[in-house]
Amino acid sequence: MGIGMAVPSRVVTNDDLSKLMETSNEWIIERTGIEQRHWVEPGEGGAELGARAAKQALERAGISANDIDLIIYATLSPDVNFPGTGVFVQRLLGIGSKGIPCLDIRQQCTGFIYGLSIADAYIRTGNFKTILLIGSEVHSTGLDISTAGRDVTVLFGDGAGAVVIGRATDDQHMILSTHIHADGTEAEILWTEYPASRQHPRMPGEKELGERRHYPMMKGKNVFKHAVTRMPQAIMEGMQANGIKSIEEIDMLIPHQANLRINQMVAQMIGMPAEKTHNNIQKYGNTTAASIPICMNEAIELGKIKPGNLVCLVAFGAGLTWGSAFLRY
Ligand code: ACO
Repeated sequence: MGIGMAVPSRVVTNDDLSKLMETSNEWIIERTGIEQRHWVEPGEGGAELGARAAKQALERAGISANDIDLIIYATLSPDVNFPGTGVFVQRLLGIGSKGIPCLDIRQQCTGFIYGLSIADAYIRTGNFKTILLIGSEVHSTGLDISTAGRDVTVLFGDGAGAVVIGRATDDQHMILSTHIHADGTEAEILWTEYPASRQHPRMPGEKELGERRHYPMMKGKNVFKHAVTRMPQAIMEGMQANGIKSIEEIDMLIPHQANLRINQMVAQMIGMPAEKTHNNIQKYGNTTAASIPICMNEAIELGKIKPGNLVCLVAFGAGLTWGSAFLRY
C-alpha cells in the first residue's frame, strides 16, 4: 500500500573512516562495494528514523496514522533495553493513547522478511486490517571506531524503511509467499555478546571491555559462505511454492544489502541478470532490518519496479536467519 525510508543527514565516507582507523576507500569498495553510509548525530534514534519512514509510507498509502491497527518493529539495535522501540514510534506518530499493539522482533538482517511474514499471516486471518511494518537500525553508536573493529565497523549504516500493508483487493498487488528459517548452531559467528542478562553482572567489566565483547563480532568468511548458500536456497523455495519455473519470470530481485559481492554472487548463481536486481549498499552500507525496504523504495522511485511486477525479496543474517518473500507490487 505504501513504502518510505529515512536516513540521518550525516554522511560518513570511506575516507572519513580512514582518518579514524587503518582502512582505505579502495579496501572497502573492493571487498564490500560500500562508498559511504549515514550515521546518526547525538539526539537521533531508531524510533525517530522509523517514524519518519512511516510518515512517508502512510502518505504514499493515502491513509493516516489513525488507520493503523498494528505496528511491527524489526531491529537488532533497540533504542533502549526495554520496552521495545515500537511503542516510541507509536507515540511519535501521535497514536500512543489508542491502544493498538506494538510487536518488536529481533531477527537482524532477516527482520524485514520475518516481519512481512507475520503481517501477511495476520492480514490473511483477518486479525488486523492495516499493519505498519518498520525496519530501523542505529548501528553507529555501538561500533568500535578503531582499527581493532575495522572489519565490522566499515560495513554498517543507520537508517529506517517502512511499509504499510493491507488486504489485497486483486491478485496483481499482493504478497504471494514468505519463507523464513533459522539455524542456531553457529549463532556466535555474528553477534554482540554484552550487555548480557545471562552474565553476572550483566554489564561488561574491565576484563570484558578489554576483550571487546560489547562490540559486534563477525567471522566474516563464514558469514559470507552461509549467505551465498542460504539466499539462493530461499529464492528457489519461493519459486517452487509459487510455481515459478524460470528465473526470467521474476521482474526484480531485492536482496538484503550486506555486501555487494555477496549479492553479485547470489545473482550469478541463480542466473539473474544485473539489470533485474537492485543494490544501493554503495550509499547506505548495511542497514540490517532496514536495508530491504530502503532498497525497494529506491527501485520503485527509479521506475525499476512497476505496478504488477513480480518481485523477490531475500535476506540472510545473524542467528543465523534467512528467508524470502515473493510479491506482486
Ligand atoms: N580495512 C582494511 N583492512 C581490513 C579491514 C578494513 N576495514 N578489515 C579487515 N582488514 C584486513 C584484515 O585485518 C586482514 O588483514 P591480515 O591479512 O593482515 O590479517 C585482511 O584485511 C583480510 O581480512 P579478512 O577478514 O580475511 O577479509 P575478507 O576478505 O574476508 O573480507 C569481509 C572481510 C568484507 C567482512 C568479508 O568477510 C565479508 O563480506 N563477509 C560477509 C559478512 C557480511 O557481509 N556481514 C555483514 C553483516 S551480516 C549480514 O548482514 C548478513
